[in-house]
Parts: sequence; C-alpha cells; structure tokens
Amino acid sequence: MSFTLKIVLAVLGALGVIVVVTSFERPPVNVVQVGQRGTAMELVTNPRTVAAQLPRHAVPEPTPPLDAAGQKASEVYENVQVLGDLDANAFTRLMIGITAWVSPEQGCNYCHNPENLASDEVYTKVVTRRMLQMTKTINASWQAHVGQTGVTCYTCHRGKPIPEAVWSTDPDPRRTRGIVASAAGQNIASPAVGLSSLPHDPFTPFLLRDEPIRVTGTRPLPHGNPATIMGAEWTYGLMFHFSAATGQNCTFCHNTQNFGKWESSTPQRVTAWHGIRMVRELNTSYVEPLRPLWAANPHGPPERGDATQSRLGPGGDPWKVNCSTCHLGASKPLLGRPMLADYPELNAVTLGPLRSASR
Ligand code: HEC
Ligand code: HEC
Ligand code: HEC
Ligand code: HEC
Repeated sequence: MSFTLKIVLAVLGALGVIVVVTSFERPPVNVVQVGQRGTAMELVTNPRTVAAQLPRHAVPEPTPPLDAAGQKASEVYENVQVLGDLDANAFTRLMIGITAWVSPEQGCNYCHNPENLASDEVYTKVVTRRMLQMTKTINASWQAHVGQTGVTCYTCHRGKPIPEAVWSTDPDPRRTRGIVASAAGQNIASPAVGLSSLPHDPFTPFLLRDEPIRVTGTRPLPHGNPATIMGAEWTYGLMFHFSAATGQNCTFCHNTQNFGKWESSTPQRVTAWHGIRMVRELNTSYVEPLRPLWAANPHGPPERGDATQSRLGPGGDPWKVNCSTCHLGASKPLLGRPMLADYPELNAVTLGPLRSASR
C-alpha cells in the first residue's frame, strides 16, 4: 500500500469516527412507551438535553396581589377600553405584569407617553389592546387546547417586544432566478422544515389559510386520492414543525402504522388538532389585521424601539404565531406551569369593539 493511500485511508477513517460520534445521542437516553405493546410508540428523551432547556422555560416571579382600591379602573382613568372592569389596583398590577413580560428594558414608556398616560399616540399601546383581547380569547375559547393552564403575554413574549419564534409569509427566495422560477419553495433547506428539501413555508397554507392537512386517501383506487402532491409535501413540512416545536417524535401524536387514523392516535393529536385551529384564528383575526400599525412603525416606537429588528417580514406581512411561539421546544409551554392562575386580571378583559385611536 502506498504511503499516500495510507494517509488518505487514515483521514477517511478519522472522518468516519467523527461522523459516527456526532450523529448518535450519547447514552443514557430515556425511552417511554406510550402506545400499545408492539406498536413501537415510544418517546425518546435525553436527560442532558432536557436539563439544558430548563432555564429557557423559567417563569418570572408574580407581583404579589394588591389590596382592592374599591374603584373600577374605568372610574379612575380616562381612556380604558378593555380593562375598565378591573379594580384600579388590579389594573396597576397588570400594567406592571405586562411591562415585565413584554418590555422589561424599555419600561412603561414602551407603550406610553409619560406626560399623558391616557394618550394612544404610541402605537404599541393600541396593539396591546388587541393582544389583551387575543390572550383572553385563547384562555376563554380555546380550553380544548390550553386547558386550565392557559397563557399570559409571557408565554409568547418572554421579556421581548417581538416573540422569539415567529414566522412570516416568506416569498420564495429563489423565485426571481430564471430557470428555477417554479421551484415551489423546495430544496432551500429551511430550518422551518428541519433543513429538508420540503417546501420552505408550511405555515401559510395551514396556519393562515385553511388547506387540507392530508397525505393518504381513504378510499381504494380507482377513486384516487384527493390529497395533492404539493399538499402532502406541505403536510410533512408542518409535521416536522410540530415535532420541533413540541420537542417530540411523531409517535407523540401518531401510531405510525396509520398516520391518518384518529382511533389509534394519542390524545395529544386531538389537542394538536384544536391547536391548529386556534393558531389560525390568532393569525387571521388578531395579528394580520394589525399590519397597518406595524407598516407605519416598521422599527418600533420612535426612540424606544429596536431599530435592528423589523416589525414586518420580508414579504411585508407581520410576524405571526406558530406552535413554537408558545412551545419553544417543550411539549407544554413553560413546562406546563400555570402562570395564568396568578393573573386573574387577564380574564377580566372585555372583548367588545374598540374605539379608533384618535388621540
Ligand atoms: C405593553 C404596553 C403597555 C405597557 C408596557 C404599559 N402599559 Fe399602561 N396601558 C396600556 C394599555 C393598552 C392601556 C389601555 C387599557 C385599556 O384600554 O383598557 C394602558 C393604560 C394605562 C393607564 C390608564 C391611563 C388613562 O387615564 O386612561 C395607566 C395609568 C397606565 N397604563 C399605567 C402604566 C404604568 C405605570 C406602566 C408601567 C408599570 C404601564 N402602564 C405599562 C399598555 C401598556
Ligand atoms: C400567541 C402569542 C402572543 C401572545 C399570547 C401575546 N402576543 Fe404580543 N405579539 C405576538 C406577535 C407574534 C407579535 C409580533 C408582530 C410583529 O412584530 O410583526 C406581537 C407583538 C406585540 C407588540 C408590538 C411590539 C412592537 O415592538 O411592535 C406588543 C406591544 C405586544 N405584542 C404586547 C402583548 C401583550 C401586552 C400581551 C399580553 C396581553 C401579548 N402581546 C400577548 C404574539 C403574542
Ligand atoms: C403534536 C402532534 C403531532 C406530531 C408530533 C406529529 N403530527 Fe402528524 N398530524 C397531527 C394532526 C393533528 C394531524 C391532522 C391535522 C388535521 O386534520 O387538521 C396530523 C396529520 C398527519 C398526516 C396526514 C394524515 C392523513 O390523514 O392524510 C401525516 C402523514 C402525518 N401527520 C405525519 C406525521 C409525521 C411523519 C410526523 C413526525 C415527523 C408527525 N406527523 C408528527 C399531529 C401531529
Ligand atoms: C398560545 C400558546 C400556544 C400555541 C400557539 C400552541 N400551543 Fe400547544 N399548548 C399550549 C398550552 C398552554 C398547553 C398546555 C395545556 C395543558 O396544560 O393542559 C399546550 C399543550 C399542547 C399539547 C399537549 C401536550 C401534552 O403533554 O399533553 C400538544 C400536543 C400541543 N400543545 C401541540 C401544539 C401544536 C401542534 C401547536 C401548533 C399548531 C400548538 N400546540 C400551539 C399553548 C399553545
């Protein structure tokens, strides 16, 4: 064997060892059986990964409840449209809460002109009214998904004005380049679809529009399969996202013997089904309609915003909600801690129509 060949073999061998060592999980890993015996419905977790994630899901200390003022916020303040039914002190407590959840560094003035707290001149205050109504809607109308655990602003915001995990309708980055004009968003290795060759945006069809989430036909040939190939690829893209967002395998929700069959799926799949519909409503009824406010303030409130982060995505639409926005890799957001229980104020938000911001 020539010397060069030996070197080449040695290098290849070393590379091989690196590949093997880095592509497998180092033991111990925990395996929990969730389905019937023999179905291989097992959830695999690695205690090291779980431990490393704990700080990410820590919850801030709640402000201790204040004694009641005995007067409603609507009696004390000038321009309260959604929190008027709250006791005035509970109102103040909630202001402290949302500051800590959304703009801890910027403080009250992220939403307020300090000279006139009743003024709606800072757009973030107007956004916040809708965010309060959205949070109330999640907790009151989507218990099929969020249960009694519920959500607060912190579930999504985690101390930042723009939540960490958001998406926007990204125009196909390759559309303008000649011959690949019809790539249909594929082969881009987008993180949204686990760096696979699947279409890079599985969110617009399912979490904004209401396309069928289908792969398999339910009737034998020759009746065909109503699911399109594109629809099937989008579906798999969405499923990759579900796994990444919840930090779980496909078997968290499916018996892989038949992905479509509800009878052999886990209860989590039903929770997820409601979650899809919930996220759609959040995006279409709350986030999208606020687009003009962000379009007018693409760099955040004047002198308070973070000019490096645009409020609109590359397609000119606002950042929207997907499963990661709340879950951030955990099967239950914030590892299931019921933060809402400490903030009954969020349940007192009025859902009625808002006056237009005129002052
Ligand atoms: C994330 C945005 C946001 C932050 C931060 C915020 N507020 Fe507010 N604030 C609002 C909104 C929205 C209203 C109007 C509520 C309504 O219409 O029911 C409001 C109303 C008020 C009012 C009533 C003013 C009036 O006369 O109508 C006071 C007082 C107030 N906030 C104080 C504070 C204080 C003090 C802080 C900091 C501890 C704070 N706010 C932080 C969004 C915010
Ligand atoms: C389900 C997730 C979710 C919840 C819950 C939520 N938000 Fe938001 N919020 C968003 C998203 C997504 C955006 C970003 C939109 C953009 O920038 O295009 C946003 C933006 C905002 C902004 C605008 C920030 C800026 O700089 O333009 C404010 C203010 C805000 N939220 C306040 C709140 C408050 C207060 C609550 C609780 C009452 C709340 N949000 C609850 C998802 C959420
Ligand atoms: C968090 C739960 C969850 C996880 C994890 C999950 N799925 Fe799904 N899956 C669903 C739900 C819910 C539907 C049905 C959606 C609907 O009908 O609106 C679905 C539908 C499907 C379908 C379509 C079945 C049909 O009727 O044609 C396939 C295929 C599928 N999933 C594959 C996968 C694969 C592969 C994975 C792992 C990469 C996965 N799923 C992970 C919840 C999940
Ligand atoms: C607004 C925040 C929010 C969003 C967005 C969200 N979830 Fe959830 N999800 C929750 C909360 C809160 C719980 C915990 C409910 C409980 O404790 O019963 C939960 C629970 C679940 C569970 C049950 C977990 C278990 O261990 O039983 C599944 C599965 C799930 N979510 C999937 C999804 C999927 C898939 C999406 C996207 C389509 C999604 N979620 C979007 C807040 C959210």
